[in-house]
Amino acid sequence: MNKKNIVLVGFMGTGKTTLGRLLAARTGMKLVDMDSIIEERAGKLISDIFAQEGEAHFRQLERALVQELAAESGLVVSTGGGIVLDPDNIADFERTGLVVCLLLSAEAILERVRHDDTRPLLSGDKVEKIRELLEFRRPLYEAIEHRIETDGLTPEQKATQIMELYNAINS
Ligand code: S3P
Repeated sequence: MNKKNIVLVGFMGTGKTTLGRLLAARTGMKLVDMDSIIEERAGKLISDIFAQEGEAHFRQLERALVQELAAESGLVVSTGGGIVLDPDNIADFERTGLVVCLLLSAEAILERVRHDDTRPLLSGDKVEKIRELLEFRRPLYEAIEHRIETDGLTPEQKATQIMELYNAINS
């Protein structure tokens, strides 16, 4: 039987990449970071894709990569925070994997991205941008079946919760 993928979803700064690494180490599955693949294939940074080709083009690259990865198995996928904007992305990933949404308070998100200047959607007034984006996206994140409230949890504790879910769907 093909091993299901584990797909990590959540707003910027919710710790998807760190957790992805931990889960890959625990499961022995391959870690795939979507933003890194998009950057590698485009030969430029996400911020340059946004600046030169625009967000809509980035979303097309993201959508095509979802279709590609959802057709594979045995991957730990760390997605970009905007993956929820197209419901087809979540539907595709759910067909072949466990999709888990990481929820984190706006204060903790701000703390984690405060000094980060690589995310194009947070350039300018970060507090205001995070507030606006979270307000718009919250229902999309909350619509995902499996969600973890991560405030106060260590990456190890988050990984353990996800492994329990993953083992349950595979048994
Ligand atoms: C985005 C999140 C980023 C990256 C891009 C857009 C978003 O990924 O895909 O800057 O729309 O939330 P991270 O969630 O890994 O920061």
